[in-house]
Amino acid sequence: MARGLGPGASANWPGGAVVYEIYPRSFQDGDGDGIGDLPGIRSRLPYLEWLGVDAIWLAPIYASPLADYGYDVSDHTAIAPEFGTEGDFDLLVADAHDRGIRVVLDLVVSHTSIEHPWFRDRPDFYVLADGPEPPNNWLASFGGPAWSPDPVSGRLYLHSFYPEQPDLDWRNPDVREAMAAVVRHWVGRGVDGFRIDAVDRMVKDAALRDDPPAEAPFPLPMPEELRHLDLIHSRDSPDMGIALATLREAAGDVPLIGEVYLPVARILPYLDYLDGAFAFDLLHAEWDAEQLGLAIERSSAAAGVAWVTSNHDFPRVATRWGEENARAAAVLLLTLGGTAFVYQGEELGMVDGEPGEHPRDRFGRDGCRRPMQWDASDAGGFTSGDPWLEPVDPGTRNADAQTADGDSILNLFRRLIELRRGIEGDPVRTESPPETLVFDRGRHRIAINLGNGTATVALPEGASVVLETEPGTLRPGAGGVEVDGHGAIVARVG
Ligand code: GLC
Repeated sequence: MARGLGPGASANWPGGAVVYEIYPRSFQDGDGDGIGDLPGIRSRLPYLEWLGVDAIWLAPIYASPLADYGYDVSDHTAIAPEFGTEGDFDLLVADAHDRGIRVVLDLVVSHTSIEHPWFRDRPDFYVLADGPEPPNNWLASFGGPAWSPDPVSGRLYLHSFYPEQPDLDWRNPDVREAMAAVVRHWVGRGVDGFRIDAVDRMVKDAALRDDPPAEAPFPLPMPEELRHLDLIHSRDSPDMGIALATLREAAGDVPLIGEVYLPVARILPYLDYLDGAFAFDLLHAEWDAEQLGLAIERSSAAAGVAWVTSNHDFPRVATRWGEENARAAAVLLLTLGGTAFVYQGEELGMVDGEPGEHPRDRFGRDGCRRPMQWDASDAGGFTSGDPWLEPVDPGTRNADAQTADGDSILNLFRRLIELRRGIEGDPVRTESPPETLVFDRGRHRIAINLGNGTATVALPEGASVVLETEPGTLRPGAGGVEVDGHGAIVARVG
């Protein structure tokens, strides 16, 4: 198989794949410094192979001053020393490939760290303006104006995120060539795909026009001050293609999945260049049959949608949708067609931690970034040292105990990943009782009971249940099966 992939690798890539998101700092520490690293990830590949995932996506592993924990890159082709060496990276890729697991890297290309040498050596790589007043009303995603003065040059520079993350000017052909070289570098190192960070911010309005006032609030979560603006000039430029074509050409046939933080109705133009884009409508829907059903319907219409219900930026499923719904949410995520992204720890039903005494992320995202819980020890088997963030509850939830327990949520994830390979066809929603979401995909029927009470779900002629969220979730009922509150089933004809 291409790229030295072992015989276990799935042929469908990226469509149909399960991509497991690793937040490297919090996955597995291999050297006792309290920070996860590449040798640590490598040591856990047997677990990931057992779980059955097709690929791992590594959140940024590059040199970074950590203002945004790796999303502020100071050298796009160097491994951060706390994560290991260049050799560790090559070993990780080789071992993952032997096990049939593909490796996806995070490409942070809309901005760099302010400590990237380009910021001083190539000011033309950035979006600059003469002060002292900002040229427009654009706001940064983490709050405050999107323009800050550079204390050295005195000019204003644009930053869509933290002030330590100046935005690149993708209209400059030299920027495009420099980033194309980065992509080619990693493709040459055997990488199988890229998750592209903040794609919708790569190209902005050439005339730097103000974002006009919003008629309706932005439909995805945003800091309050941004919700009053119609974010049409500070991002999502109609000229986006100049940037995306560069990445597409440099990546060749290596898949690109975009983090386009826009409602799914606005991601279609991106899919002319990208192989996939996250469906944030699903992640941000409430645990409500109508909202989830609509998000699925709208997103399914976009070929190349990548399903995601949690990641390193937002509260975990069990925290957002309720611990009692975590299993049913797993059924939902893993029975939809297309690529599905599973964030580390979701397979254990992990919950967010409370904000710690010493916050790390200024935007309050530590809760979902707590370390993976491998065993019941205090540090959860994550590290032999002092963890950079405390694990939440390894005594209650950990991979060792759940591996041994055939009825655990971990084993449910494993069964679902296996089962989904045999599910084909687009999801078609069917009539169902209130508070349930039922859809068919080919000869499979997926039924989710979102409410507290029991619901009776009709099964197609000749269908039998092939998966339930927990033993005893269902009973034969008049005209179908009775599914307990918070339960879900998958049935198959034949
Ligand atoms: C993306 C990342 C997030 C980061 C931001 C800026 O949204 O997922 O973690 O802070 O981009 O790079």
